[in-house]
Amino acid sequence: MDNAEKKELMSVIDSGWYTESSKTKEFERMFASFVGAKYACAVTSGTAALYVGLKALNIGMGDEVIVPDLTFVASPNSVEATGAKPVLVDIEKNALNLDLNKMSKSVNKKTKAVMPVDFNGRPIDMKVLREFADKKDIMLIEDAAHAIGCYYNRRHVGTISDVGIFSFSTPKIITTGQGGMIVTNDRQIYERAMALKDFGRKIGIKKQMEKSFSHSTIGYNFKFTEFQAAIGIAQMRKLQKRIIKKRRMFMKYVDLLSNVEGIEFLKTNLKNVTPWMIDIFLKSPAKRAQLIKYLEKKQIGTRIYYPPIHRLKPYKKTDREYKQASSFSDRGLWLPSSVTLTDKQIEIVCNEIKRFSK
Ligand SMILES: Cc1ncc(COP(=O)(O)O)c(C=O)c1O
Repeated sequence: MDNAEKKELMSVIDSGWYTESSKTKEFERMFASFVGAKYACAVTSGTAALYVGLKALNIGMGDEVIVPDLTFVASPNSVEATGAKPVLVDIEKNALNLDLNKMSKSVNKKTKAVMPVDFNGRPIDMKVLREFADKKDIMLIEDAAHAIGCYYNRRHVGTISDVGIFSFSTPKIITTGQGGMIVTNDRQIYERAMALKDFGRKIGIKKQMEKSFSHSTIGYNFKFTEFQAAIGIAQMRKLQKRIIKKRRMFMKYVDLLSNVEGIEFLKTNLKNVTPWMIDIFLKSPAKRAQLIKYLEKKQIGTRIYYPPIHRLKPYKKTDREYKQASSFSDRGLWLPSSVTLTDKQIEIVCNEIKRFSK
């Protein structure tokens, strides 16, 4: 962040109005227009966006929601929070998305929704999934927390599903410190989400006195603040440049490392995908541990892939049905990915990886 964010933030402090209001509306409008959705609703985090999105789809006790095994724990946790049951399904063999074949076999009468996750920005085959969901009368709530600036058939990810959600937590391509966004093209879902985040208050009531204590449904408090919106507006103005930079960075890493023994990249179409982080795959978990240690000594930070959900204590299952998620998760490593990285710094990182490989 720089003076652009400071200036926007100061204007909120000077205005004396801090809870969500006109700045938040402006941020929501900017985001909706960027992704090409009719409606956008800002909330406190990506996790809150998932929860509110699920509730806006009327998902709750007795329902099942299919969630890929390779994701961040917020995806299944948000389903649990509604009282519904997350049903974990493995990912594809050659990609990081939900295995649509296995998914279709997990659908039953209780299945109310599928939650595809655009892992590290790579979209699922949305045409196939949308057709399947329409045929079976199942809703789609897309976890696009990683995927701002990513497209499927020229449409921004998250906008083909009934609900799409995004995260603005600090490491994301744009941030509001914490924050999340729900997008939809359905007016009713939008109105329910807006009421859910604001104590059940209906939108559109003009008179303040009438609005304050008019709670037409049960709702909570997942409201944004004008501080976050101010930062978000300044960040949105930087987004297009960051998308170009992230794609260029990924290309540079691939150029420098693709011939290095033991380092694999996932085939990534950079016309549509803006990888959130630079991800590589080692041959084995042991090799990955060695590389992490080696880079650490050179003061180069890395981060391992998320553990598959089925290995986490609250969701414990054996690896048997989750072979692909386990394999990708065990071998995946995120390399330095900040948009502030220079070409020189990327070369230093890659040279060290080459030395390690030799
Ligand atoms: C796939 C996925 N879904 C949801 C979330 C939750 O977003 P937040 O941290 O904004 O609550 C994250 C966080 O990084 C995520 O990786």
